[in-house]
Formats: sequence, C-alpha cells, structure tokens
Amino acid sequence: MYVKFIILSFIFSCSVFSAELAKKGDLLEISTKEISLSNVHAMEQDIQQEEDIYQDRGCFGCWSRCFQNCCYQMLAATCWDSIMGGFNPGRIKAMTLLDIQPMDKVLLVGEGSGLDFNVLPDTINKNELKALDFSSEMVRQAKQKAPRFGIPEENCFVGDAQKLPFTEERFDKIFFPLSLGSIPDPTLALEEAERVLAPRGRIVIFEKLVDDHAEISCSRYVLNWFTRCIFADINRNLTHMMGHHSSLKIMQYESLENHLSGCLVSQLGPYYRLAVLVRASDYPDPPTREAVLRGDEK
Ligand SMILES: C[S@@+](CC[C@H](N)C(=O)[O-])C[C@H]1O[C@@H](n2cnc3c(N)ncnc32)[C@H](O)[C@@H]1O
Repeated sequence: MYVKFIILSFIFSCSVFSAELAKKGDLLEISTKEISLSNVHAMEQDIQQEEDIYQDRGCFGCWSRCFQNCCYQMLAATCWDSIMGGFNPGRIKAMTLLDIQPMDKVLLVGEGSGLDFNVLPDTINKNELKALDFSSEMVRQAKQKAPRFGIPEENCFVGDAQKLPFTEERFDKIFFPLSLGSIPDPTLALEEAERVLAPRGRIVIFEKLVDDHAEISCSRYVLNWFTRCIFADINRNLTHMMGHHSSLKIMQYESLENHLSGCLVSQLGPYYRLAVLVRASDYPDPPTREAVLRGDEK
C-alpha cells in the first residue's frame, strides 16, 4: 500500500514540477499583467507580513520554511489550481461537516489560492469569512478570486496559523483545508485554533493523516524527508498533534477513499482523512473517539 503511495506521490510531484517548469516562462508575464497600482500597496503589506513571520524563527526553521514557501510561491503562480481540482469532492464533504450557518463566523487556515471559495454554501455570510495563508503568492491569488464570490478582498491575508492575528475575535467554524500537514508546528496551530474557537464551534481538518496505532513503513519515512521540504509532512497523526493537554476532542473521523476525483488524486483517497474537532466541554456526548476508521468509514 505504501509503495503505491510512494509511486503516486512521485508521479504527482513530477507532474507538478514539469507543469511548473513548462509554465515558468509565462510566470513573469502573468505577474506583471495582473499587478495593478491599486493593489501594489496591499501586496507590499502582505510581503512585509510574510517577512515578519520569518524573523520569528530560528535558523534551521527559517531555511526549511523558506524552501517550502518558495515551492508554494512557484506552485501558486503556475499550476496549483489545475492540479488541485481532484480534491474538490473532499472540500465539498468538508463543508458538509463544517455545517456553516448563515450567521457563523468562518476562518480558513492555510487557505492557499482560494479553491474553497468555490464550494462555500450559498447561505454563508461572506463578510464574516476570513482566509489566511503563509504564502503571499497564494494570498494574492485568493484576493483575485474573492470578489467573484462576494468575499471582501481584505478578508484574505498573509498570516501564520501558529500565531493567529486575533485577540478578541472568535470563529464558529474553522477549516484547515489540506494545510495542517504543511504547518511546521501543527500542535501550536491547533492550540491557536482552539483559542479563537467560539463556544460550541467546530474545527474541520482535511488532510493526509496516519491513523492511531497504524505502522509507518521505512519507505514512507524516507519519502517524508522529501515531501516535508516540498509541500507537507505525510506522516502526521491527529491524536499526536492534538497533544495531551488539548481540550479538543475528535467527534468524527473518516476516510476519503473513493471520494476524490481525477486519475492521480483519486488514487490518493485512502490516505486522506476528514476530522471534526470540538471542545470536549461543549459536547460532553458523544464520548471522545480515536483517530481510527470504523468499518463504515473506510
Ligand atoms: C497543501 S497547501 C494547501 C493550500 C490550500 N488550502 C488548498 O487546499 O489548495 C498548504 C498551504 O498551507 C500554507 N501554510 C503552511 N504553513 C502555514 C502557516 N504556518 N500558516 C498559514 N498557512 C500555512 C501554505 O502556504 C500552503 O498554501
């Protein structure tokens, strides 16, 4: 099974990079065309914000972060939207689990280029939606899409999931769309999400995750050295990320096997999970469950 995963990930990465190289020549042209004077200031602010986040990190953290971010910057500017289409069915399912109500305040953490805007329920209050990402290029693309979906551009901004820029503001629904595997310290990111979660709010995670008690093969460990630098850690386990002191609990945990589309992405379905986290004190029933698939969730 892991060999299949390795081969698929390799093909996936190769297709990403070949598409990226093929379009590299167009990159400068696209960027210059799309930059108008009116948004230069906003972009400068985002890039400054990105630099400030870097300055908070140690030397190694800074370099690995920088490398991963360069990959995301390039992917965002070239082929991100086209290669990520196959994940749409997973996004739609995640929206169902989020159960967004018209008055809910919603936060998208590591939103990337705004691909989730497509699948938001019509009833959502777009003014109450905030989307942040670490990569200024991803945010630039999200800002471009936002008006089409009635979302104010300024609601998309550069920010660090590990240090959410909210002191008073609270969110009813928080979504990590394929981002928890890319955030350097996911435990901190979950603590931050918990901090800004409104009473009886919920957090939904869409990510490639390793189930509790599952063994990770040697080859998967090795593969992870590469994937971690390029896009994400593929060996993360939700229970471990939540840590011992979290007041969150897992309420739902399911596989996306047979729920993704496209010839490559659909093959990755068995590795992806959707999880719903809530504050244990807000939902004393049902009991906390493990990050393990039950028969009907495989
Ligand atoms: C695999 S991409 C997913 C992007 C997008 N959510 C999607 O589904 O297309 C992971 C995203 O997480 C973002 N990211 C990584 N570390 C982050 C952090 N500390 N804070 C916020 N976003 C982060 C990356 O910039 C990248 O856009």
